[in-house]
Formats: sequence, C-alpha cells, structure tokens
Amino acid sequence: MQNSLAVIDRLIREHEAIRQKAAGIADLISDEGAVKLLGEIDAANLGRLLELLKSTMKGLETHFNFEESGLMAAAERFGDRRLNTAFSTLFLQHEKLRNDFAGSIRDLTQLLNERQSGRVGQKQARDTLARLNVTISMLKSHAASEDKLLHELKAALEK
Ligand SMILES: [Fe+2]
Ligand SMILES: [Fe+2]
Repeated sequence: MQNSLAVIDRLIREHEAIRQKAAGIADLISDEGAVKLLGEIDAANLGRLLELLKSTMKGLETHFNFEESGLMAAAERFGDRRLNTAFSTLFLQHEKLRNDFAGSIRDLTQLLNERQSGRVGQKQARDTLARLNVTISMLKSHAASEDKLLHELKAALEK
C-alpha cells in the first residue's frame, strides 16, 4: 500500500512535469511562435522545438513504461474493476501518442533540413505544426484524465 501510494505520487509529479513541457511546446507553436518558426529568421527556433520534442518524448517513454507496469500492479492489488478498466483504456492512447510524437519529430527534422536548403513550403510547415498541436492537446487531456483517476485511487487506498 505504501508502495502503491509512492507510485501514484510519482506519477502525479511526472504529470506536472509533462504539463510544463507541453506548455513550452504549445508556446513555441502558438500563432505568434509559428511566425518566428516559419519566418525569415534562422532555424534556431525550429531546432529548439525539435530538441524540446525529443527530450519530451524520452521522458514520456520512461513515464509510459512506469505507468503501464507500476500503476497496473497497484490498481490490480486494489482490485477495483472500474478503475482498472479506465486505466487500461487510457493506456491504449500511449501507442498513439508515441507514434504521433515520433511522426512530429520526423516531420520537423525534414522541415529543418529543407529550411536549411531554402526549400521549405509554408503549407507543409503549417500542417506539421497543426498536427503537433493536436498531439499536444491529446497529451494534456490524457494526463488530466489520468490525474483524476490517480486521485480517486489514492483516496480509496487511504481510506
Ligand atoms: Fe498515460
Ligand atoms: Fe501518465
């Protein structure tokens, strides 16, 4: 039980860190940020976004793995079927988030290469940012839904 609570607390803390990373990415690709990214400025901002995405994805990978193993064990020990099902359903989104992040990293790398050779298409660039925006929104709502369940599980365990 002590262990389960420690798992829950760690996940809630990690969600806060994920939220901060997501906010940083959202800032860089906001309407205002996109002008800097896609305008006639050098590629530094695009490179910064790419690095931020890579480090976020690395952190997410560790987080998802820990969540899938540690949390499932805690939830199963507690044995609430509704909560277990709710967590399992949310974990199905991990694969999509992994793929979408990898796709954005691939697209941005291509964009950066094309930008350096002066061939970047504005439409393609905007589409890439729009897709990333959808992924970031999905990540934020994923973490928020999990937080809600984590608080429920924590309250139940502390009873
Ligand atoms: Fe998750
Ligand atoms: Fe999570």
